[in-house]
Amino acid sequence: MSEARPPICDYEGSDYQERFWELGGREYEDCVEAVALNRLLPEGGARLLEVGAGAGRHTPRYQGFQQIVLLDYSRTQLEQAKARLGESERYIYVAGDAYRLPFAPGVFDSATMIRTLHHMADPQVALRQVRSTMETGGVFVLEYANKRNLKAIARWALRRQVWNPFGYEPVEFVELNYNFHPIAVRGWMSEAGFEVFRLLTVSHFRLNLLKKVVPLGVLVALDSLVQWTGNWFQLTPSVFLGAEAVGEGEQAPEGAFWRCPVCGSFDIEKTDAGMRCRGCDRVWPLRDGIFDFKEPLGD
Ligand SMILES: C[S@@+](CC[C@H](N)C(=O)[O-])C[C@H]1O[C@@H](n2cnc3c(N)ncnc32)[C@H](O)[C@@H]1O
Repeated sequence: MSEARPPICDYEGSDYQERFWELGGREYEDCVEAVALNRLLPEGGARLLEVGAGAGRHTPRYQGFQQIVLLDYSRTQLEQAKARLGESERYIYVAGDAYRLPFAPGVFDSATMIRTLHHMADPQVALRQVRSTMETGGVFVLEYANKRNLKAIARWALRRQVWNPFGYEPVEFVELNYNFHPIAVRGWMSEAGFEVFRLLTVSHFRLNLLKKVVPLGVLVALDSLVQWTGNWFQLTPSVFLGAEAVGEGEQAPEGAFWRCPVCGSFDIEKTDAGMRCRGCDRVWPLRDGIFDFKEPLGD
């Protein structure tokens, strides 16, 4: 458990879901993301991890999965997700950090991370963490913000933007908001133990004027069609990729699900106060149906 702990873009108390999605005129982006997700994820499975689940915008789309674990750093985002999805054995709400996930190796057969990598100052650590929690052969759907998009290229060519969209290094355009180069992301995926099987380019028509004048259904249908060009070139602001977890994964003891994010022990018992790690004696609280692996009790 010696991975670095980079700074976190904290959504605690944020009205992101309402402001950005429900009142923000982003039906088009939401619909085309749903199309891409549907194309990349298997129809179902036993247990899916959603990293940076936020208010659970995408969660109802994971229809065929028996159990879904919503992981987010923000408790208030998870509270919104819980209000939307309800309490049931099918959903497990976990407040935790993508840089040190509180799960045993190989416990998920699928994972998604949508609109979350762009907050990662150290994306490689987060991708390695996701891989470690997945079984070999599992499917990971990742969305990332693409710095080599048409608008950025045009702005750079017209000298209205200083950073080079063709450079492989991430660009931090606002504090803790990064755009990445597709070739860099592909390299990190491979280093983390993923084999990319399909790229889909998404949000080709993310222009306010187009969204105003072209009916939503037409725009979504066109985007759905050109998403398939993603394997050949990626010039959209958003890219989805489907990848398979490959190589040997770490072995966990039979039946282990949790992993202490501080000491790495799998020996975790449920107590009245929360989840107690027998390795380091920390207790991770369980409050209002949300497992909290951010701050142990008494720290
Ligand atoms: C832009 S929102 C996206 C939410 C959701 N995936 C969606 O598409 O609607 C980014 C989410 O990532 C979460 N996040 C940021 N850094 C994180 C980290 N280090 N660990 C876990 N979640 C993180 C934020 O709390 C926020 O809910």
